[in-house]
Order: sequence, then C-alpha cells, then structure tokens
Amino acid sequence: MSRPSYSEIVASLPSVTPFVGPETIERQQGQPFRVRIGANESAFGVSPRAAAAMSEAARGVAWYCDPEGYELRAELARMHGVDIDNVTLGAGIDDLLGLIVRMYMNPGDAVAASLGCYPTFVYHVNGFGGRLETVPYRSDRNDLMALTDLAAKRKARILYLSNPDNPTGSYYGSNAIADLLERVPPDCLFILDEAYLDFVPTDTILPFDVDDPRLIRVRTFSKAHGMAGARVGYAIAHKEIIRTFDKVRLHFGVSLVAQVGALASLRDPQFVASVVKAVEAGRRDYVKLTEDAGISALPSQTNFVAFDFGTGERAEAVMNALIERGVFLRKPAAPGLDRLVRVTVGTPEDRAIFSELFRDVMKGM
Ligand SMILES: Cc1ncc(COP(=O)(O)O)c(C=O)c1O
Repeated sequence: MSRPSYSEIVASLPSVTPFVGPETIERQQGQPFRVRIGANESAFGVSPRAAAAMSEAARGVAWYCDPEGYELRAELARMHGVDIDNVTLGAGIDDLLGLIVRMYMNPGDAVAASLGCYPTFVYHVNGFGGRLETVPYRSDRNDLMALTDLAAKRKARILYLSNPDNPTGSYYGSNAIADLLERVPPDCLFILDEAYLDFVPTDTILPFDVDDPRLIRVRTFSKAHGMAGARVGYAIAHKEIIRTFDKVRLHFGVSLVAQVGALASLRDPQFVASVVKAVEAGRRDYVKLTEDAGISALPSQTNFVAFDFGTGERAEAVMNALIERGVFLRKPAAPGLDRLVRVTVGTPEDRAIFSELFRDVMKGM
C-alpha cells in the first residue's frame, strides 16, 4: 500500500534516542535499580514548599495554564535584575534548545560545539537538518579558543557551550566567558547552557547583558531545584529574541503544576542552598572513593563527578558491572571522553550502597 512519505530531513535521520531512560533498562532487566545516579537528577528531592504548592495546583488542572507564565517570569526577572520581557519559559532546557535551533539555523547550516557535548543539542541540530562541526575537548575542558575559531572558520550560525560542562563537570568563570563572547563572530548566536549554574560560586557568574543580541542563556529547575520530572526551564535574552520565541514555542507547554512549583521553589532559597551544600559533600566523598580505588576524578562544579578509568574499555566494563548490580549510570561515548563515567551525587544512603558495590567491582578489574 502506498503511504505518505516523511519529510526529507526526518527520512534521513538515524533511529536513535539521545537518552535511554532508567525505566527502559529496568523493564529489560526485570528489576528496579537500587541507586539512580546516572542522569544528574537531584537525589535531594524538591523543596517542601514547592511540593505543597504543586499538590494544591493539581486541583486547578481542569483549566489551561497561563500561556505567558507571567508570575514565574516576573519572579525570575526580579531575581536576575532583568525585565520580564527578557525571560521566556520552556519545558526544560531541552525544549528551549530545540526552539533556538529552529529559530536560528536553516537546513544545511553549520553549528559549532565541542565533540561529546550535551547530546540533546546535537539531537535538535540533526532534527532540523543542520551540520554539526566540532572541536575536541582539551585537557578535559571545553577549548574556548578552538570553539570560536571553528565558529568563524565554518561560518557557524550557532555556537553552543554548556558551562558548567556536562559531561566533564568543568567550569569557566566570568572572565573567560566574557573573552569568548568578544571572539564570537558577529553573525553567530552564542547559546550558553547554564543547567548547573546553581552549583557555582555566585561571584564567578557573568552578569546579564540583555542588550547583547548574540547571546541566549538557558537555565533549569531540573538540577538544584530537584524538579526534573516537572519539565521547566527558562531563557534570558534580548527582548526581541524573547518575542521571537513566541512565534515557535508551545504556548501551554509549561504546565500549571510546573509553573507553580518553580515559583514556590524560587521562593525557598534556603532549600536550594542546602542542596548545593549536600552536593559539595557528596563530590568530596566521590573524590575520596576514586583515590582509594587508585583512579582519578575530574574537578567538578556540578552535581556529578566524572570518574576517570583511563580507557574506554575499562570505563565501560566497570559501568556495565555496576548497572548489572542495580546502579543506574551513564557515560560519554565520544573519543577522548569515553574513559569517563559520570556519577551523579546521590544521598548519603545512595553513596553508601554505591561505594560498596563500586569497591567490589573494582577489586575484579
Ligand atoms: C548541559 C545540560 N543542559 C540541559 C540539560 C537538561 O535540562 P532540562 O531538564 O531543563 O531539559 C542537562 C541535563 O542533564 C544538561 O546536562
């Protein structure tokens, strides 16, 4: 029987998912994971105030949510010292990245990023028919000079950087990012993905300049706020860019429950501060664990630590052995980074279980 054909872009895409969920692996293995430390979610839960506000909001889901997300945007604008017209919401950074790629990139255009950068960005570039140009990491950090050189050489429409970085956990402070911005070619958009920014010292963060039409900064409630399942993030940019998001965004895409929860979480800064502190303690535990096992860990400014196993084969073997024993983990696959396994900071109980299993597995390696 004849059938309608897919668009050329979609027909050319390989059948891949950027992420296999732990639920999928649990179904395959026929048992639940004991510890879930593979997706950089927050093991420390959600603010009790946000949880209460979301329960209350659940009663209101018969009605569509505010398509302008006004209250949440107003609070974000107030907190960041920008205008409400400089803020838009999305169903997480993942959603916003897709919108931005669609807004700035034509099929066939080049975009620039590090080889092995956050996979959802790559997924959207492929999905909209773009051409990803990459430079390798240098000493396990994004190579900022090489990235801007690449963007200029390939006439990239977009330059993407996650800072702090996933998967290495490395971080550049405001001076390095300001220098990079100077070098971004004039017709290239710079996406600064700040998913992990809650975990860095505030005095190292580049101040907002919403007059700069070359920069979009994206942030999320999925990490320190512990709301990954609610799907809410935001972009801060020039007003004209924010108005352009309105041409393509899904207007009811950030649910009522997500909007209300995020607002309540913003109003509970002590909770987020306590998560950041707990994560710091967890990172120190992981560093000690790797030292005791005779391997190293990359310095991290995030809620995860990249354990360095020296070779891709060893990293893969250890990770698979741990997955079989009930620990959900993920690792980067890109050359140069494939020797790493990314371990999210779990609760002290998670870490106790993980440490025991890790030591046991390492004895046999
Ligand atoms: C660099 C980076 N950006 C974005 C995300 C996803 O954020 P969200 O849950 O807001 O879509 C992640 C999650 O792991 C990430 O590591």
